[in-house]
Amino acid sequence: MKAVAVIPKKKNSAHIVHTDIPGISDNEVLVKVKLVGIDGTDKEINEGLYGKAPEGENLLIIGHESLGEVVKTGKDVKAVKPGDMVVATVRRPDDCVNCRAGEYDMCLKGEYTERGIKGRHGYLSEYYVEDERFLVKVPKELDELAVLLEPMSIAEKAIRMAYITQKRMKWEAKTAMVTGTGSLGLLTAILLRLRGLDVISVDRSDNEYKNTIFSELGVTHFNTKKINLHDIPRAIGRQIDLIIEETGNSSVALHAIMTVGTNGVVVLTSITGGEKHIEICSDCFNQGLVLGNKVVLGSVNAHRKDFEQGINDLLAAEQQWHGLLAKLITGRYYPEKIHEALLALKDNIKVVIEF
Ligand code: BGC
Ligand code: ZN
Repeated sequence: MKAVAVIPKKKNSAHIVHTDIPGISDNEVLVKVKLVGIDGTDKEINEGLYGKAPEGENLLIIGHESLGEVVKTGKDVKAVKPGDMVVATVRRPDDCVNCRAGEYDMCLKGEYTERGIKGRHGYLSEYYVEDERFLVKVPKELDELAVLLEPMSIAEKAIRMAYITQKRMKWEAKTAMVTGTGSLGLLTAILLRLRGLDVISVDRSDNEYKNTIFSELGVTHFNTKKINLHDIPRAIGRQIDLIIEETGNSSVALHAIMTVGTNGVVVLTSITGGEKHIEICSDCFNQGLVLGNKVVLGSVNAHRKDFEQGINDLLAAEQQWHGLLAKLITGRYYPEKIHEALLALKDNIKVVIEF
């Protein structure tokens, strides 16, 4: 079968490989891949900045945002059957306390693996095999939109973490900000609108296509080439209670922390592989957090329950803004065109690879 692999740490090494279709054991499932979404993590892996091959191998099959159809199940499999559509989770546990409690996304030891990213092959191949425990069955009515479930699970966890954290007081969030308007930013904006919050989105552009999405969602957009992030609260006449940072830019993350209002919470989600340095006023930074009772937290990966909640919210979003989710999938490529697809990430919302 055909797959897309990289040589980890080598720049621009993505290429087609041919391997055997893997066999399955009693609790495993053979899945035929339909669509795989690609994102900034895949781009960083192809740039040689991130990613690790499975132990003892020198290639890594990439792809962690999957959608596929079950074609064969081992004799002990109960959760799914042939014909079901499934999305696989990404992270696999080590033996730490959190992993043993099913919280692989909170792994303490760091010896976890991630399919398509760290020490385990991904889903950019015609077929993959997985233990039934790591598959999430998706409703047929979501159809191709289910390829958005993995990024949606990241947004779900970030928001869930914010709300759990804010149980530290009486908190009535009214205004949220999402920095970055890639697929993750837009999915996060959708979730926050579903919760009834006023949502501000920011990036460094005024994109006509995205503007139609913002207006359909009722999101107010700011271009930070025209207004500084920390001036936005004054421009809208109220404080920001919650910021989810998803630009992939660590300096925006620091600015976001300095922009959130009193009792606010900032969730950082960007994976920044570089070594950027900036200078900040550490007194202002510290004092703002202290006097404002603010919290900053990092959030990575997702729990299985975030995938499950993601299904409910994709269905809810489809009902509320019919046809909007489909507008997020703006690029579609065959596996042979992986380099074009990775380049296209810059001007697209969600790019998918079709098998
Ligand atoms: C994936 C996560 C993963 C993270 C760090 C993201 O792109 O969606 O599942 O944990 O990268 O490797
Ligand atoms: Zn662990």
